[in-house]
Amino acid sequence: MAKDVIIALDFPTREATLAFLDQFPAGEKPFVKIGMELFYAEGPQIVRDIKARGHKIFLDLKLHDIPNTVKSAMRVLSRLDVDMVNLHAAGASEMMKGALEGLTREDGTRPLLIAVTQLTSTDADALKRELLIETPMAETVMAYAKNAAASGLDGVVCSPLEAALVKEQCGADFVTVTPGIRFADSAAGDQKRIMTPEKAGRSGCDYIVVGRPITKSEDPVAAYRRAVKDFMG
Ligand code: C5P
Repeated sequence: MAKDVIIALDFPTREATLAFLDQFPAGEKPFVKIGMELFYAEGPQIVRDIKARGHKIFLDLKLHDIPNTVKSAMRVLSRLDVDMVNLHAAGASEMMKGALEGLTREDGTRPLLIAVTQLTSTDADALKRELLIETPMAETVMAYAKNAAASGLDGVVCSPLEAALVKEQCGADFVTVTPGIRFADSAAGDQKRIMTPEKAGRSGCDYIVVGRPITKSEDPVAAYRRAVKDFMG
């Protein structure tokens, strides 16, 4: 099972993103995550450009629509040669299977397809009162993860605190991608359920997604190397 640190490139422009990446020496190419902000600002060309620099890319666009639309959109994304993409498991199994079909390239290869279960910003109150879901949060997260696994997806985005249980319920090969990572001495910011890279490495996390502890660091390259060393052991 591949294990890696993914840097969240939460920057608003191409200039800010490339200035950040330029701090790394030529031979060091971290796995990076491009989210909605950067993608919507700069379009698919930013993905091609970062790929051309030699980085692996997790394109975090969280697709959620009718199966045919998601399948067609995934076909377009697979041509961008990204390494990992995601969708909302709430779109249900027909949508997830359509996504897999759309993602699979003519030569049979495809990026890893990861599901978002419940957004970590949705709390128990919103689940019950707004989404009208009476089942407790942890149970819905595991049920969505199992639906994703049964639909053939590769894994889920989850809290590092849930990774071990996801592995137990969905299989050791089911990939866990975990944000909410903080060094013991870094600010939590708006993340509430956090874990250090070192503990995440021992808790069933395959990929950790690290944003501000690296991007806002005075020395991002050193912070990235520290995360890799702590996580990979
Ligand atoms: O800066 P920080 O390390 O908190 O960044 C975490 C990244 O992971 C951000 O890009 C955030 O949008 C993303 N993310 C998250 N929690 C989720 C899903 C994605 O923090 N449940």
